[in-house]
Amino acid sequence: MVLPISMAIGAMLRRQKKLVQGSKTYVVKASEVADFLVLDAIIITRQGNNFLAFENRCTHLGCRIREVRDGLLHCPCHGSRFNKEGMPAKGPAASPLSRLPSVYSSESGKIWVRI
Ligand code: FES
Repeated sequence: MVLPISMAIGAMLRRQKKLVQGSKTYVVKASEVADFLVLDAIIITRQGNNFLAFENRCTHLGCRIREVRDGLLHCPCHGSRFNKEGMPAKGPAASPLSRLPSVYSSESGKIWVRI
């Protein structure tokens, strides 16, 4: 009787591991986000203690955004710009940046972003 239960638990753990393998979680100190934090795969924007997280992939043709200038995210490839809410402020991109789920804890001062 002990063996089938341990096999069932093992199968459950393997299934959970597969689910976790498909995603990655970034943990960032809120103090590192002034207005924008541009990392390789994600972008975090801040308004007070409200944080938004986005996939760092321009919605025009998928370039990585590397620069913030004049309060806007600038795509280096064809000049699209996005505001803090991820909305296009200048084309050719016409769609907003893709939002990512995120959680901010004021206790720990950290932001968790899942991609
Ligand atoms: S890929 Fe960003 S503007 Fe074209």
